[in-house]
Amino acid sequence: MDKTTVANLRNNYTLNELSENIVSKNPYIQFAEWFKDALEAKLVEANAMVLSTIKDGRPSARVVLLKGFDENGFVFYTNYKSHKGQELAVNNAACLTFFWDKLERQVRIEGFMEKVSEQDSDEYYWSRPRESQIGAWVSSQSEVISGRDILDEKLAFYQKEFENLEVIPRPPHWGGYVLKVERIEFWQGRPNRLHDRILFTQEGDNWKIERLSP
Ligand SMILES: Cc1cc2nc3c(=O)[nH]c(=O)nc-3n(C[C@H](O)[C@H](O)[C@H](O)COP(=O)(O)O)c2cc1C
Repeated sequence: MDKTTVANLRNNYTLNELSENIVSKNPYIQFAEWFKDALEAKLVEANAMVLSTIKDGRPSARVVLLKGFDENGFVFYTNYKSHKGQELAVNNAACLTFFWDKLERQVRIEGFMEKVSEQDSDEYYWSRPRESQIGAWVSSQSEVISGRDILDEKLAFYQKEFENLEVIPRPPHWGGYVLKVERIEFWQGRPNRLHDRILFTQEGDNWKIERLSP
């Protein structure tokens, strides 16, 4: 590929703007508005977000799916024994990043991750399709395996194990995390790279609202 092909990829962002006057005073309400816009824009995975954690002082990032949010935080589900789970057990500082391309928007959320209640994990686990529930038993997420056949064998094993069970138990190592928010930044693309960035920082019961230079 010609080396200028990549260098010349650029879009001018002209769709929208975000100002101190129109942003909600409550970042959760602002997030809910933007999330609704993302759903209405029919983005392929509006709830996909990059989860960044810390591994031995180094960044570690991957995409996960948002499964709920409110004033208590932002929730996703995973395997607690996975790399991310092990990293969060040592250092629970984390960051979530959304990129909604069609809307020219980014949201960054920083804070500390906690496990959700066993009851919330159960409820979400049992709301998933039966095959996905079995999948959680099959995958020792993040472990090295010798080949795909390991997964096929374990799938056959657990399908048989659970065939007479109406309710599959949730694996104890599978459940949710909730990010307790300290800071949220809303980024709206603007022309000429002079984007709008509004940062919310929690101060006691209040949110400090500041504009950042793009
Ligand atoms: C669109 C998308 C959604 C994903 N959603 C999740 C998720 O909700 N939970 C999860 O554990 N992994 C999810 N993954 C897989 C993760 O990116 C990652 O491969 C996996 O969690 C293992 O990460 P780790 O080894 O850093 O723990 C998703 C991947 C993609 C591309």
